[in-house]
Amino acid sequence: MIVCSCNVLSEAQVRDSIAADTGPRKTIEVYRCLGCSPQCGRCARTIRAIMDDALGRACESCPAACPAISE
Ligand code: FES
Repeated sequence: MIVCSCNVLSEAQVRDSIAADTGPRKTIEVYRCLGCSPQCGRCARTIRAIMDDALGRACESCPAACPAISE
């Protein structure tokens, strides 16, 4: 599904970009990682929601001693 019509970015591309441990953790970094920049900005909330979903799931699979959880 296309989530950014200005840059023709798909949800899969966004999820792939943040999958690596060193991947983007801010919305603006997702655009940069995918070789573009925000245009109208209407997709920013959607991209943020995809990131929160993906990173939240990753966090759920961490051990209880994960420093990100204990902060
Ligand atoms: S829809 Fe993504 S910048 Fe316009």
